[in-house]
Amino acid sequence: MRRRTFLGLSALGGVSLWTPGVFADLLATPRLTEGPFYPDRLPLDTDNDLLILNDSATPALGEITHLTGRVLSPAGEPIRNAFIEIWQVDHNGVYLHSGSDGAGNRDANFQGYGRFLTDSTGRYYFRTVKPVPYPGRTPHIHVGVSRNGRRVLTTQLFVKGHPQNETDGLYRGIGDRKLQELVTGDFARIPDSRIGELAVNFDIVLGVTPEETDGGRIVGGIGKSEGGGPGGPRGPQGAGGPPPRGGRRPPPPPRE
Ligand SMILES: [Fe+2]
Repeated sequence: MRRRTFLGLSALGGVSLWTPGVFADLLATPRLTEGPFYPDRLPLDTDNDLLILNDSATPALGEITHLTGRVLSPAGEPIRNAFIEIWQVDHNGVYLHSGSDGAGNRDANFQGYGRFLTDSTGRYYFRTVKPVPYPGRTPHIHVGVSRNGRRVLTTQLFVKGHPQNETDGLYRGIGDRKLQELVTGDFARIPDSRIGELAVNFDIVLGVTPEETDGGRIVGGIGKSEGGGPGGPRGPQGAGGPPPRGGRRPPPPPRE
């Protein structure tokens, strides 16, 4: 990943050993627009498995992708109890949004949106499908991070090597190649997978260290979206809702 990873977070023991600021050298994940397609109606199922809606027996279509990563402070400390939200198009390029292009072709089995609460090591996990292009955009997954009931980062994850990246206005707008790499994930085939599953890691570095409440108590839920979604300033009551708990566990790391 980036500098300082060699320190190995687990080897350092308790975070109390950290002196804030001393290792403040991770580049913050670039902020990118939320866009117009944060769900205007959240699914009833908002867990971290976007392939299966509620108890449906029929999974969504598309290339199965295991998305993992950590949320980190600028000093590389893991940020626990951060709410990660993702939303993206299905295998037909359609969002869970009434204004999405091709809304009639939406995969009814795809959840389109999911939430997860980072664990004590700042980790998160989603099972979803690899995003595909839609009119005007290169493939991407929207990501929102909330702490203490406030959205602290909104960004997008791009697909490494996708030919449309270079002509995508938003991707180009990031400007710096190094910053682009921070929001570009390698959707790599899992060697052992008989059904061609993909795995991608996306570590998220917040620009500022969010304040920790007493004893890591969770204060507030999902922060309001920046747009007109259910949690947005122009939408109905906040996206709030109970914190995501439990849910699907990450698979063991693929063997080399
Ligand atoms: Fe989008």
